[in-house]
Order: sequence, then C-alpha cells, then structure tokens
Amino acid sequence: MIDEQRAFWSKVAPSYDRVVDLQIGPATRALVRERLVREGRLGNAVEFGCGTGFYTQVLAERAERVVATDCSPGMLAMAQQRIDAANVRFRVEDCQRTTLADGAFDTAFMSLVIHFTEPAATLAEMRRILKPGGTLIISNLDPQALGGLARVRCLARIIYHGLTGYRTKPPKASLNHAPTEQQLHDLLIRAGFEVLSSETFRDPSRSSNIPVEYVRALRR
Ligand SMILES: C[S@@+](CC[C@H](N)C(=O)[O-])C[C@H]1O[C@@H](n2cnc3c(N)ncnc32)[C@H](O)[C@@H]1O
Repeated sequence: MIDEQRAFWSKVAPSYDRVVDLQIGPATRALVRERLVREGRLGNAVEFGCGTGFYTQVLAERAERVVATDCSPGMLAMAQQRIDAANVRFRVEDCQRTTLADGAFDTAFMSLVIHFTEPAATLAEMRRILKPGGTLIISNLDPQALGGLARVRCLARIIYHGLTGYRTKPPKASLNHAPTEQQLHDLLIRAGFEVLSSETFRDPSRSSNIPVEYVRALRR
C-alpha cells in the first residue's frame, strides 16, 4: 500500500500544485495557509505528508525547527526546491509508522493526507511523537459536508482533473475514506486527543467546491 502511494505521488509531484487547485478550488489551500499563519509559536514542529511544501515555509516561520516528512521522495524533492529555510529538515517517512522519537514535538501538522492512510494508525503515531500538551493540526477534505448534487459535482471534478491532469492510475485509497468532521473528532478523542477547535474553509467561487476542515487538538 505504501509503495503504491510512494510511486503515485513521486510520479505526479511536478503537476500536483496545478492539479489539486483545479480539483478543490484555487483558493482552498491558500485559505488554509492563511489560517496557519495565524497560529502562535509552534515550537518543535513536524509535518506529515508535506507534499510540495505548500505549507512548510509558514511552519518554518512559526516554529523553532521543522521536520517535513513525506513517503514520496519525488514530493520531497519538490519541497526541497521550494524551501530554503535553515530550520527545516526533510525526511522520507510513512506517517503511520515513523522513525521519529517519542514525545519529540510540540506541534504536528498534516494537510490532505489522512484519507490516504489508516486514520487510527496515523493519529496514534501523531500522539506518540507529540509531547503531552502538544498540538495537532489537521486539514481534512470533507465531501460529505456538501448536499446531494453539489457533492456529485465536487467528486466528478476531483476525478476528472485527477485522471486528465495526472494520467496515471491513482492509489486505491480515495476520498471514500475521508472522515467527516464528526468522524474525525471521534477518531481524535479515541486516539487520546481533546478537540480544541474546528473551522471550515471552502473556495467560494463554486458552490460545489469541497469543504476543508481545519481541526486543532490537544495531545492528552
Ligand atoms: C494530497 S497530497 C497533500 C500534500 C500537502 N500536504 C498539501 O496539502 O498540499 C498527499 C501527500 O501525502 C503523502 N502521503 C500519502 N500517504 C502517506 C503516508 N502513509 N505517509 C506519508 N506521506 C504520505 C503523499 O506522498 C502526498 O505528498
């Protein structure tokens, strides 16, 4: 499974930023990044599934140090080209089972990744590497938050731009595995977190653009 993810994302890495904006609406990730800018100091931070590094520079500006991880060497290569902050280190890691030390981080951040993983395993890993009292921030796609026709349009746009933009078979895990906001809260509580806040962002240019939940949680 992880090999399939690694191969797919390394292959599509050069097109990712263009295609994801077509899939989810051009302003969506920018809105989430603006929200991340408003976080306080992040201390020692880790990013799971950093992709092309769209959020990594903001993390670097707010943290003492950042370990930016992804399972895909191709994605990490793109991120390394983009980011020249001296306090960022890049590492290949499977976020469900990392080699990071117990309790090493004050903040863990992950955007648009959990639905490609076994969510309980990823959250357990985030809890393991966070210090008690540390903060988890997850940005999660939530197609279920849209009503009938809007949801159909949203999923059709994601599939269409994915197929035509990447021209390669996607990994098996898909948006069908994306937890709803409530499911994500329940998963977080079961994994040993307290949900602190939950906000929804959506590119307003189309009523069928996918909502993204920005969830902050405390590691108990
Ligand atoms: C949709 S992209 C999101 C990239 C970036 N976080 C963003 O929001 O633009 C998903 C990323 O998750 C990574 N990924 C998928 N499964 C992973 C896993 N098990 N461990 C680490 N990274 C993973 C992929 O390589 C890819 O870079």
